[in-house]
Amino acid sequence: MDLYEYQAKELFAAHGVPVSPGIVVTSADEAVTAAEKLGTPVMVKSQVKTGGRGKAGGVKFAATIDDVRTHAGNILGLDIRGHVTRKVLITPASDIAAEYYASFLLDRANRRYLAMCSKEGGMEIEQLAVEKPEALARVPIDPAAGVDAAKAAEIVAAAGFDDDVRDKVAAALVKLWDVFVGEDATLVEVNPLIQTPDGDVLALDGKVTLDDNAAFRHPQHADLVDYASENPLELRAKEKHLNYVKLDGQVGIIGNGAGLVMSTLDVVAYAGEKHSGVKPANFLDIGGGASAEVMASGLDIILSDPDVKSVFVNVFGGITACDAVATGIVKALEILGDAATKPLVVRLDGNNVAAGRAILAAAAHPLVTSADTMDAGADRAAELAAAAGK
Ligand SMILES: Nc1ncnc2c1ncn2[C@@H]1O[C@H](COP(=O)(O)OP(=O)(O)O)[C@@H](O)[C@H]1O
Ligand SMILES: [Mg+2]
Repeated sequence: MDLYEYQAKELFAAHGVPVSPGIVVTSADEAVTAAEKLGTPVMVKSQVKTGGRGKAGGVKFAATIDDVRTHAGNILGLDIRGHVTRKVLITPASDIAAEYYASFLLDRANRRYLAMCSKEGGMEIEQLAVEKPEALARVPIDPAAGVDAAKAAEIVAAAGFDDDVRDKVAAALVKLWDVFVGEDATLVEVNPLIQTPDGDVLALDGKVTLDDNAAFRHPQHADLVDYASENPLELRAKEKHLNYVKLDGQVGIIGNGAGLVMSTLDVVAYAGEKHSGVKPANFLDIGGGASAEVMASGLDIILSDPDVKSVFVNVFGGITACDAVATGIVKALEILGDAATKPLVVRLDGNNVAAGRAILAAAAHPLVTSADTMDAGADRAAELAAAAGK
């Protein structure tokens, strides 16, 4: 789960990373009250879960209360790359002597953590990495050792910080590492981390991605979920404990086992090239024990996605044999009744495949077509989606 800047900074503050106070509001009137409390000048900052807010006009300096009202009015409702601003953060405007960059992230390819740090923060880090890679220090972190004062000193040295700020940046890095590990994050990023004219170091922006697989260790993280900004289908899937990710295509996908579902996405995308460019509409792994109820929940979610024009059910019978899966599909369609309106292509293989196919054939549901192979099923599902209008 990605957090908003204000939430990231609340976690920063809880772990001792220096941040300014801030008040989150949803109207221009509240923005004025907040600015009166904090004292001008303030920044009015769009709270959306995407970067580059400054460039998009979502971060404004307000010298006076009138400015606060104007900027808050303009920024609330502002669409930043598909993210509509519903909340703004009012926070004191800091004097900036220098802007730095600091992050910790999970480096999956190298099975380590990685620290990235630069004296040249502020601009987008992807741009810095391309245009001036030498200005971005990358220091691998041994997961068992973590980041102590010595490691932090190594990182700031690698980034070439001047002597006068090294200690303060290093101290901030140790605290930031505390956020990363203590909150089970896969990313913590501060851009910019600034130096004030007095020589203090302060996080002016914050980006945190929490590891959802560690959510059970952090019951308080549930409060950070912003239901209004979550995809409603993904939320429903989560309630049913289904492994579902919404994508932007037209062919609904259900499979058992993450690996099989991933390959199904590839095969459908490939087949779609011949059929008006239709694409997979989602990832849905119903896991090993695909009971009728799980199949029904899965189908229900996929069928209620208005983008879905056809569904491809691709199951390899293992511990749960094909006949059980076929029974699950038939029962799921019974449970759904009139709610099931889109064509389903079912490919069964593996344990008890003959019995499974026989069950589907006997049920002869008008929406269901059987396919013998994964390629044939993907092709048919793509063709049906294309025929239904992309
Ligand atoms: N509290 C603040 N005081 C002064 N300047 C700020 C403050 N917050 C942000 N800025 C300036 O605005 C820029 C963009 O803000 P930031 O929070 O980094 O948003 P984004 O990264 O989404 O553009 C920063 O690089 C900084 O120069
Ligand atoms: Mg930023």
